[in-house]
Amino acid sequence: MAELIFKPGNTIIINMIITVANQKGGVGKTDLCVNLASYISLKGSKVLVIDLDPQANATEYLGGREFEKTTSDLLVDDRVKLSDAVIPSSVKGLDVVPGSQRLSAAQVEIMNDPGMQFRLKRKLKNSGYDYVLIDTPPSLGMLTVNALTASDSVLIPVQVHYLATKGVEQLMNTVGMVKKEINPRLSVRGYVLTMHDKRNNLTRRVEKEVREAYGREVFDSVIPVNVDLAEAPRNNTPIMIYRKESRGAYAYQRLTEEFLGG
Ligand SMILES: Nc1ncnc2c1ncn2[C@@H]1O[C@H](COP(=O)(O)OP(=O)(O)O)[C@@H](O)[C@H]1O
Ligand SMILES: [Mg+2]
Repeated sequence: MAELIFKPGNTIIINMIITVANQKGGVGKTDLCVNLASYISLKGSKVLVIDLDPQANATEYLGGREFEKTTSDLLVDDRVKLSDAVIPSSVKGLDVVPGSQRLSAAQVEIMNDPGMQFRLKRKLKNSGYDYVLIDTPPSLGMLTVNALTASDSVLIPVQVHYLATKGVEQLMNTVGMVKKEINPRLSVRGYVLTMHDKRNNLTRRVEKEVREAYGREVFDSVIPVNVDLAEAPRNNTPIMIYRKESRGAYAYQRLTEEFLGG
């Protein structure tokens, strides 16, 4: 359970940290992270996206351009605080810590530190955000381990595709290892089916398989293949601003309701 922080005037900060992970590339991690985060912020929560991917797709998607500090500085430099690296996004109430190509080198640099798994976690204490969503690279290296170590839970996008569950097993080994050795409170927040095409037989078959394998941990809401979702990143605006009446936008609204438990 996330830490609840009571502030003067009885405001409660939920401080829930969630990693979005799947070591396969192109399964919709960044799409899920950015769009879920923006709809959660629309509900009035303070939300932060942390971009831990050297490709920095989430940063671009959220309209981040010029920035002094990135997640790489946050990981490598003890003097850099979270607030030094946070920038506002194109969505009100949603901030981002930008990713950078330098994360690849940062990942190697921190290997000298015996506490290397905890470097991100230390920077997220009392963040002041209700929800922190961490976007991860397509690998199970030290960046993803840092994210899992800092998190309450992991949210797993599963592309509705042949062999969809194969890669998930590998991810679950890493999640199990982190839970056992480093972060016992880590839980699976759920699986989200992405790039779902309901007219396609393969989609239906894979969906059935995934639901049989992971049961109630699979969200009812699915994210459809949607051209507006494909185009939104190039416009540097989440779907809620780019095309708020699209199928993709409605799907994310439903997912957000389900995610928040309403
Ligand atoms: N539901 C969707 N419908 C259409 N295109 C999508 C959808 N989700 C993601 N995409 C596109 O597919 C590509 C991969 O998605 P992305 O979220 O970047 O995956 P990952 O972060 O796992 O690598 C991107 O170009 C993205 O814009
Ligand atoms: Mg990505």
